[in-house]
Amino acid sequence: MLIFTADFNEYCGMVHGYREPGHEAHSRDVSEPVQSRLGETDQTRAKSVEQSAQPGHQDLASLLNQLPGMVYRCHYDGKWKMDFASEGAYELTGYRVEDLIHQNAIFFSQVIHPDDREDVHQKIEKAWREGKPFNITYRIRARDGSEKWVRDTGKAVSNTSDRIEFEGFITDVSEQKRSEERIQRQIRRFEGLRKVDMAITASFDLRVTLDVLLEQVINQLEVDAGDILLLDRYTNTLEYAARRGFRTAALQHTSLRLGEGFAGSAAIERRTIHIPDLTRARGGLERSPYLEAEGFITYFGVPLIAKGELEGILEIFHRSPLQPDPEWLDYLETLAGQAAIAIDNATLFKELQRSNMELNLAYDATLEGWSKALELRDQETEGHTQRVTHMTLRLARSMGFSDSELVPIYRGALLHDIGKMGIPDHILLKPGPLNPNEWEIMRQHPTLAYNLLWPIPSLRPALDIPYCHHEKWNGMGYPRGLKGEEIPLAARIFSIVDVWDALISDRPYRKAWPEDKVFEYIRKEKGRHFDPQVTEAFLALF
Ligand code: C2E
Ligand code: SIN
Ligand code: SIN
Ligand code: SIN
Ligand code: FE
Ligand code: FE
Repeated sequence: MLIFTADFNEYCGMVHGYREPGHEAHSRDVSEPVQSRLGETDQTRAKSVEQSAQPGHQDLASLLNQLPGMVYRCHYDGKWKMDFASEGAYELTGYRVEDLIHQNAIFFSQVIHPDDREDVHQKIEKAWREGKPFNITYRIRARDGSEKWVRDTGKAVSNTSDRIEFEGFITDVSEQKRSEERIQRQIRRFEGLRKVDMAITASFDLRVTLDVLLEQVINQLEVDAGDILLLDRYTNTLEYAARRGFRTAALQHTSLRLGEGFAGSAAIERRTIHIPDLTRARGGLERSPYLEAEGFITYFGVPLIAKGELEGILEIFHRSPLQPDPEWLDYLETLAGQAAIAIDNATLFKELQRSNMELNLAYDATLEGWSKALELRDQETEGHTQRVTHMTLRLARSMGFSDSELVPIYRGALLHDIGKMGIPDHILLKPGPLNPNEWEIMRQHPTLAYNLLWPIPSLRPALDIPYCHHEKWNGMGYPRGLKGEEIPLAARIFSIVDVWDALISDRPYRKAWPEDKVFEYIRKEKGRHFDPQVTEAFLALF
């Protein structure tokens, strides 16, 4: 049974034994990383060691001690104990080799960062159980209190029931770790920008976009809170729009004149205002009663500028001091640029929507004018068109049409008999029944409507009703004799309302029918003139 000794020569012998696997004099399994590190550090020398006769132990000892990092040997017998450490330990940990080994006070476990200690021991134990080398990255605390990331590669080299020996090599990987973290942070920040971009493209709702933006500000810049104030161009004030990360109601009612407060200064000077310690520079925020309770230390006010125009201010708050690096500041500016674009887009969209709405209103007013002119000429009962239009919308809504689908129905119903514009007075206003010739002409009114409206692209979606409202479910209608579902649904809905309204009204050619006769007629025509389902939906309204 091999009992580990802390003898340095013994240790070096093992290293040598590994370099020449044929020599089984030291039958211990020596940690691979020690070998590979040796090779890396001095290839030529390692080669010459292989080729020449036995190297002197002294050579290997000085080689180990020159390695940057710490070659170690330790054991576990219920407690961890360091038995050997190369001199690189000093640079790595700030502790002298004597501090780390034997009976001395500082044992390596205490150098391992407390948060990582448990994990390191578990991983070592697991590797040992599986008979594998370990390769662990963790933090240490050097003697001067500085934190370092190290990589520890090693292996159990001998093992008795109550004593396990390990050897390995610890190197400082702080630099790699930092650049790894930097890359990770850049990826996260890039993703953050992409999310904001997507929000800008996908949503015309500025609140939603600003929420996404503030979420990225807080996550990627690792700050506690942020808000956005929008410039109101009419009053020249900065108005609260969105916030995130606050504990109190602070700043929710902010309204600042340009030049007023930190945000107002950032706005008027068009530059980022950085207050490293708010507790000493209360000048800009004292009007906010809750701000004290928030405990903020750091403040940034960043002007949001798109196309040379100030759109608002992004405010950032942190509850401890911040030492931003250039990358952080760059990212802040980028996010601020995106915020400005989002606000500019939303403003443009709102204006577009408003002028669109105004246009639509003017447009529908024109259509209503047309239908009124028609009503006048047709001598139909006052409000016939309004009534059928209203009832058609009610019926369509009850059948599940959405608001936007109702727009062409509304316009189609208003214009349903626009084709009668082309019917001569002596036919249209004839007090009695029409003769076959007159009827021939009267039956052209849907086609006349089609010809009249088709050239107006924005009215094409509304054509179904004027063109098809005299088609019948059984195919006996006009002008095309469409049957069943060949008839556009909008027209099937409208036709039942049109007949209902015609029958309850006086016409030049007959008096209004009593209501029960009208419903009896409609029930009778279900499946003949009218779509059965639409008939049911219509009757259900009464
Ligand atoms: P309108 O007066 O708006 O009638 C629309 C539809 O309601 C008619 O389409 C028809 O389906 C139904 N309807 C109206 N009145 C009656 C009625 O007394 N009995 C029955 N069973 N159904 C009625 P239709 O028949 O295709 O007529 C289209 C348009 O032709 C009518 O619109 C009206 O302007 C005109 N028209 C129809 N019949 C006569 C008529 O006898 N004399 C005159 N002067 N015009 C008529
Ligand atoms: C320890 O010393 O606590 C673990 C062994 C090592 O990784 O150095
Ligand atoms: C600011 O946001 O810069 C000022 C807010 C305030 O004074 O209430
Ligand atoms: C539909 O059938 O859902 C649209 C109505 C129409 O064609 O007018
Ligand atoms: Fe008609
Ligand atoms: Fe009508």
